[in-house]
Amino acid sequence: MSRFIHSLADVQTEQIGDDTRIWQFAVVLAGAQIGSGCNLNCHTFVENDVVIGDRVTLKSGVCLWDGIRVEDDVFIGPNATFTNDPTPRSKQRPEAFQRTIIQKGASIGAGAVILGGVTIGAYALIGAGSVVTKNVPPQALVRGNPARIVGWVDESGHKMQRLDDHRWQAEDGRMCAAHNETLTLEHG
Ligand SMILES: CC(C)(COP(=O)(O)OP(=O)(O)OC[C@H]1O[C@@H](n2cnc3c(N)ncnc32)[C@H](O)[C@@H]1OP(=O)(O)O)[C@@H](O)C(=O)NCCC(=O)NCCS
Repeated sequence: MSRFIHSLADVQTEQIGDDTRIWQFAVVLAGAQIGSGCNLNCHTFVENDVVIGDRVTLKSGVCLWDGIRVEDDVFIGPNATFTNDPTPRSKQRPEAFQRTIIQKGASIGAGAVILGGVTIGAYALIGAGSVVTKNVPPQALVRGNPARIVGWVDESGHKMQRLDDHRWQAEDGRMCAAHNETLTLEHG
């Protein structure tokens, strides 16, 4: 077991995979599950009902509240903000918190706000400072407030090149078609 937890972190969960590093002033509550090979930078917070996959990066200032699921290989940039209650009131807890899912390989830019209940699709890229108000399709590049699809990225995060209204080409030559906010690989 080669995980590293800095002596100035308050980590209450036992469910942490190998090779995960947790830095100064991180707070992780007892119910949280954290996979292998993750990096939780200083000043991160993980609440109880949170599941984090493998090789996930949380940059400083990221708080993951109850109801958030983070799949493998996700990057969450500094001070990205999540919410889990659409109509908050002090001292009133909702019956259930919203479920937010960040699918495999997605990246969230610095300072983005992700409203509760959305799913961010696999390998999507969220621009810095975006406000994400609805689901983001896999491999979509979104930015702005409210965040809109402005392009598509491949699994490595490289922007695809637009060929016409619907056709996009990945850096490695693969051709894709985008219709109704869905990207599909073209064969042949
Ligand atoms: C969104 C992003 C991926 C670039 O997207 P892009 O479509 O390639 O954007 P471009 O650089 O080609 O700029 C195109 C336009 O979008 C604007 N733009 C770029 N990033 C933007 C953002 N995050 N939000 C709003 N507008 C943005 C540019 O100003 C430009 O506007 P203009 O056409 O009016 O001149 C990038 O700017 C970004 O935000 N990356 C995340 C960085 C980050 O947070 N990293 C975290 C670890 S440090």
